[in-house]
Amino acid sequence: MTDYAPLMAMAQRAREQSYSPYSHFRVGAALLTASGKIYTGCNIENAAFSATVCAERTAFFKAVSEGERAFEAIAIVGGKEGETAPFCAPCGVCRQVMAEFCRKDFKLILGNESHFEVFTLDMVLPFSFTQDDLS
Ligand code: THU
Repeated sequence: MTDYAPLMAMAQRAREQSYSPYSHFRVGAALLTASGKIYTGCNIENAAFSATVCAERTAFFKAVSEGERAFEAIAIVGGKEGETAPFCAPCGVCRQVMAEFCRKDFKLILGNESHFEVFTLDMVLPFSFTQDDLS
């Protein structure tokens, strides 16, 4: 089985860059591509709240904008300022973005550095609407 601990550690490090002066909820993500490259992201909030972007989408959009199209796994770490939650699940919008670019067996590594669990995209977003539905 793949060792996801280093990916989790990178998500934790990315979390340090979180810009979250409104919610004080800091999230970091580390996205592993099929070619083995890693793109990190953090949440970036805005005074106009709807302009906020989650850590996961920051990582995905960085990667996609660099030409990446094939992804293996994403590690996600979050929690209120000063603490790390035992588990930070991605929001529905981020799951939908994952469904655009990832297969059903794409892995989500959720937890923190001391304990994490591996889920698949199909587990966290069953019955998803994808490009297949438009064809
Ligand atoms: N957030 C993420 O970055 N990822 C998630 O999966 C859940 C929520 C951010 C958005 C916002 O900046 C803060 O956490 C509180 O919702």
